[in-house]
Amino acid sequence: MATLINIGDIAQYDGQEVTVRGWLYNRTDKGRLQFLLVRDGTGVAQCVAFKKELPSDMFEIAQALTQESSMIVTGTVRADERAPGYPGGFEVGITSIELIQIAGEYPIQPKEHGVEFLMDNRHLWVRSLRQWAILRIRATIISALRNWLDDHGYMLVDTPILTPAAGENTTTLFEIDYYGESAFLAQTGQLYNEANIASFGKVYCFGPTFRAEKSKTRRHLMEFWMIEPEMAFFDLEDLMVMEEQYISAVVQTVLEKHRMELEILERDISKLENITPPFARISYDEAVERLEKLAAEIDDPERKAELAITWGGDFGSPHETAIAEMFDKPVFVTNYPSAVKAFYMQPVEGRPEVCRSVDLLAPEGYGEITGGSERIYDPDLLKQRIDEIGISPENYAWYLDLRRYGTVPHSGFGLGIERTVAWICGLPHIRETIPYARMLNRLYP
Ligand code: 4AD
Ligand code: MG
Repeated sequence: MATLINIGDIAQYDGQEVTVRGWLYNRTDKGRLQFLLVRDGTGVAQCVAFKKELPSDMFEIAQALTQESSMIVTGTVRADERAPGYPGGFEVGITSIELIQIAGEYPIQPKEHGVEFLMDNRHLWVRSLRQWAILRIRATIISALRNWLDDHGYMLVDTPILTPAAGENTTTLFEIDYYGESAFLAQTGQLYNEANIASFGKVYCFGPTFRAEKSKTRRHLMEFWMIEPEMAFFDLEDLMVMEEQYISAVVQTVLEKHRMELEILERDISKLENITPPFARISYDEAVERLEKLAAEIDDPERKAELAITWGGDFGSPHETAIAEMFDKPVFVTNYPSAVKAFYMQPVEGRPEVCRSVDLLAPEGYGEITGGSERIYDPDLLKQRIDEIGISPENYAWYLDLRRYGTVPHSGFGLGIERTVAWICGLPHIRETIPYARMLNRLYP
């Protein structure tokens, strides 16, 4: 009796008779020998149909299979280092083949296609090897992010998606009609996390978040996933120590589990092996100085203009990339101007024009992967900030309550899953890091 196996485990079955169920990924026709590359979701294996060893009707099936045809194949596993596949080094000598469906002419060929075409066919593109590798790594990144928190005393507390008020910037809200009232898709779970820490101490939320970002960049999605830890009695330094350990652990987990996928993506692994604590810390002031110095040394006027910054301005992606390139690990940038950050961030004592915020910039130009801060915990100061930025205090009455009943210093941050996946996988654009990207001009499929 053949054993039903996952191709990913094929190495454990050398010499045994196995059954695999899947789809034809590619084929090489050598007449009497048909080399079928079969994928089953867990891997890709070369299955060889040899005319002499198969009943003629089965050999005809093997010859007729088109790309993405579905089938059940039984045969004997044999080690052969030349055999392609993921993992390679083993092939299946077919003894029987059962057809499920001959697939119609498949739109995605094993050749180059334009990216818009591929995005239109995303429901099929997810089957391609590179996409398979990326989305497997994404799944591991998410589980590693959650497991680390679960193992370190953080409790998952879910936060709502339908919310009555802005959590971040009021210009990027998706508004919906909530039985005649206006409501918004969550931009963050942070404000609710701040309520939850007073019950549980260290918490996190994980879920989709929404930002109506009316710009087309390779780092922005309308719908993205964020994990947000929030901790009572944490200051900015505690936050950075936790983040550098957390992110390093996640990168190392991906390296342990996904050598094969990283190879498919041609990722330079040495860059990831280097991700261990500590990460450098620089202030916004220092970052601006470094940028000014860099711009002064550059002759190309276009590049000079791109890097231009005056104190007080927010960093754009050229600035973030230039700063990150000065380090070979992620770098923390602290104490941004209060004016470019959210209303809830704690001002620096004696220097309220900057706040106790920290962004983590990924190396190799992948930009900001986490954003966080100490939160204002003084009730009067928070009320004052709410009034200053002109959001309605009635909507934030519950949030102000948190500062009234046992307020404590606290901090937290949000990590964007897609930017983290882009960085770890080495992808130039964020659109491939999520199964179905939502962008300015894309809501299909
Ligand atoms: O810096 P952001 O806006 O921070 C917050 O939302 C805080 N409330 C988080 C917190 O302190 N609990 O977003 C956090 C991260 C960014 O660093 C980035 O990785 C990602 O979320 N992000 C996006 N990713 C993809 N597309 C977008 N439009 C994103 N906006 C933010
Ligand atoms: Mg941010």
